[in-house]
Amino acid sequence: MEKLVFPKDFVWGTATASYQVEGAAREGGRGECIWDVFARKPGAVNAGENGDVACDQYHRYEEDVALMAELGFNSYRFSIAWPRIIPTGSGKVNPEGVAYYRKLCDELHKHNIKACATLYHWDLPQVLEEKGGWADRGVLDAFEEYVKVCYETLGDVIDTWITINEPFCVAYLGYLWGVHAPGQRDLNKALAAVHHINMAHGIAVREYRKTKLKAPIGITYNPATPRPATSSAADARAADISRAFNTEVFMFPALGKGYPELVTKDLNLSFPVQSGDMQLIAQPIDFIGVNYYTEHAVAADEKAQFKTTNKPSWETTTAMGWPIVPGGLERQLLWINEVSNGIPIYITENGCAYDDVVAPDGRVHDKERIKYLHQHLAVCADVIKKGVPLKGYFVWSLMDNFEWAFGYGRRFGIIHIDFKTQKRTVKDSAYFLRDTIAGYGEL
Ligand code: FCB
Repeated sequence: MEKLVFPKDFVWGTATASYQVEGAAREGGRGECIWDVFARKPGAVNAGENGDVACDQYHRYEEDVALMAELGFNSYRFSIAWPRIIPTGSGKVNPEGVAYYRKLCDELHKHNIKACATLYHWDLPQVLEEKGGWADRGVLDAFEEYVKVCYETLGDVIDTWITINEPFCVAYLGYLWGVHAPGQRDLNKALAAVHHINMAHGIAVREYRKTKLKAPIGITYNPATPRPATSSAADARAADISRAFNTEVFMFPALGKGYPELVTKDLNLSFPVQSGDMQLIAQPIDFIGVNYYTEHAVAADEKAQFKTTNKPSWETTTAMGWPIVPGGLERQLLWINEVSNGIPIYITENGCAYDDVVAPDGRVHDKERIKYLHQHLAVCADVIKKGVPLKGYFVWSLMDNFEWAFGYGRRFGIIHIDFKTQKRTVKDSAYFLRDTIAGYGEL
């Protein structure tokens, strides 16, 4: 296999999100979020599971940080739960919530690990959903208030800020396809949510620049950059449409390129844009975060709602059923570098789910994950040589956790969790990453 050689200052991190790992859902003054409510809906989450306890990181962060340090990671990407900071969405700040994240950051810094915080990784306070959630422009006032509180109370301990995690999932999984909280299926609401989540990003950056804080701030996308299933012109166009609808509607406004015409003209979809909005969204950012898991082949389909359809592919799949396509990561990074004009890029998530078990020898021999990570890291090393300003890599995830609608049934961690006992077992893939970080460069 190819040698994995990375620059000395490369950022090596693990990633998680508040609702997926924290637990302590009714402790520390935390308010209710849309995932608490969604998880109670019959059939919404596999086996009726929820994030009430999750990995209990709220109580076990010291152990978790020690494990990261032992493995040699130098950054931790976590998210701040809005309902811990302002339990009622807007208004009174909860000092216990602030204190939790300060303690977590102190612990990270004690171990020379940087704190990379995502402001919004999907746990919207439920009270705001009741007023319309991301489909309602009013949510932006509350979001502005929330981010200002984060900057004021946590600004001195956060080393990197990410405004929004995967706006695609917020708008489409939440409001169009209804598979994520708040579980709505309404195209107009989804298009409104697209615009409002884009604006939320702009607001977060604008407000940040008003402070004296100097840490980098960016946004994390899960860009879908599908490949045309065949070499026909129709499929090439289908891939363009799919990329425009799934990715460019989020990325292009932030880069000052506006909404793509393939969506506004060809698909004839419109966003509730008011004067000044596009300027607000297009704040200069310090980096683009990329979450990459897979790539799909798409073909033209005039009967489909958005004129394209996913085609079967030949690659082996992970436990998510997602084809393993390291080449897609290369295609994607090259494209992003081209459209973003050299803005630094971080892989803010990459990883895979497998049905990992603790073996009789007490270890988790997740060879398939090692192969997956190796293949994708090889692409990372390679694109750096091709001039892509890729500055870091965060594996998803530090530990097995609450995988949204799949509940605890999908294990993405490099650390295994026994959800009955909360025992942490370091998987072989974590040792593989430890050695890669240490610079051994090959298996
Ligand atoms: C991404 C999410 C993350 C995790 C992975 C598997 O879409 O950002 O929270 O669930 O997928």
